[in-house]
Amino acid sequence: MANNLLAGKVGIISGALNEKSIAWKVAQRAHAEGARFVLTNAPLAMRMGEINKLSEECNAPIIPADATSVEDLEKLFTGAQEQLGGKLDFMLHSIGMSPNIRKGKNYGELNYQWFQQTIDISALSFHKMLAVAEKQDAFNEWGSVVALSYIAAQRAFLDYTDMTQAKAMLESIARSYGQRLGKLKKVRVNTVSQSPTKTTAGAGISGFDAFYEFADKMSPLGNAPAEACADYCISLFSDLTRYVTMQNLMHDGGFSTTGISQEMADLMEKANG
Ligand SMILES: NC(=O)c1ccc[n+]([C@@H]2O[C@H](COP(=O)([O-])OP(=O)(O)OC[C@H]3O[C@@H](n4cnc5c(N)ncnc54)[C@H](O)[C@@H]3O)[C@@H](O)[C@H]2O)c1
Repeated sequence: MANNLLAGKVGIISGALNEKSIAWKVAQRAHAEGARFVLTNAPLAMRMGEINKLSEECNAPIIPADATSVEDLEKLFTGAQEQLGGKLDFMLHSIGMSPNIRKGKNYGELNYQWFQQTIDISALSFHKMLAVAEKQDAFNEWGSVVALSYIAAQRAFLDYTDMTQAKAMLESIARSYGQRLGKLKKVRVNTVSQSPTKTTAGAGISGFDAFYEFADKMSPLGNAPAEACADYCISLFSDLTRYVTMQNLMHDGGFSTTGISQEMADLMEKANG
């Protein structure tokens, strides 16, 4: 169901690690809608080699970059403009990692050096990308930037530990940079707050299966799959959403505004005998 929504547009898509990645689906949809783009990921992630399949499928060059390194990002943005033959129309930030979550630390035991890494990788990297893009004047007017967030930015979730703060910062950066880039270049900046999704990053969180099921039972439409998240990102890169900026947009099947669902009420009743 392609509609040429991104015909003639060029951009950067970060964070496609494997077929489960949300960014992988965004790349496939962007390609189907006529966009040309560069794929990027951390040099370490490249070693797994999966991204080469996506690169071939989408005819998209790969430029490795550690998103915490301004030097790498400078090379990414100059390289992308060279390869694509001009300034960019869209960018996806789909990057997140917490060493504390990986090592199973609970919220009271966080290692602060790792906490800083979580913030650097999952939130500051977004500021760094936007600041490099601004300095290089890398975006065309009416460009669109999307970063992926999670509702833990607004509400406490067990086991999401320091990613909670990273997502709150990510959403705040989208507002501040949206204000700046809107004035400078009419570029919009938004975050999409996605349902729990079975990806490498998602599955790394302890208790993930339980809160995946909980969110699914609470949401009238059920959890939004990665493919639907990709559709939403494409709409935000398209010209159909030119005046949407500085927003955190819920893409969660209705989870965020549900108090309790019938399924959950039934389960509680059953549990109480
Ligand atoms: N999976 C979920 O339940 C869920 C829900 C809401 C939001 N999100 C967000 O979606 C985004 C994508 O995650 P995903 O679920 O597709 O998982 P994923 O593991 O496929 O993607 C995470 C990506 O971040 C990349 N990355 C990590 N460190 C990096 C660095 N230093 N430089 C560059 N890239 C780096 C990884 O290589 C990987 O490609 C993340 O921001 C995540 O927090 C995920």
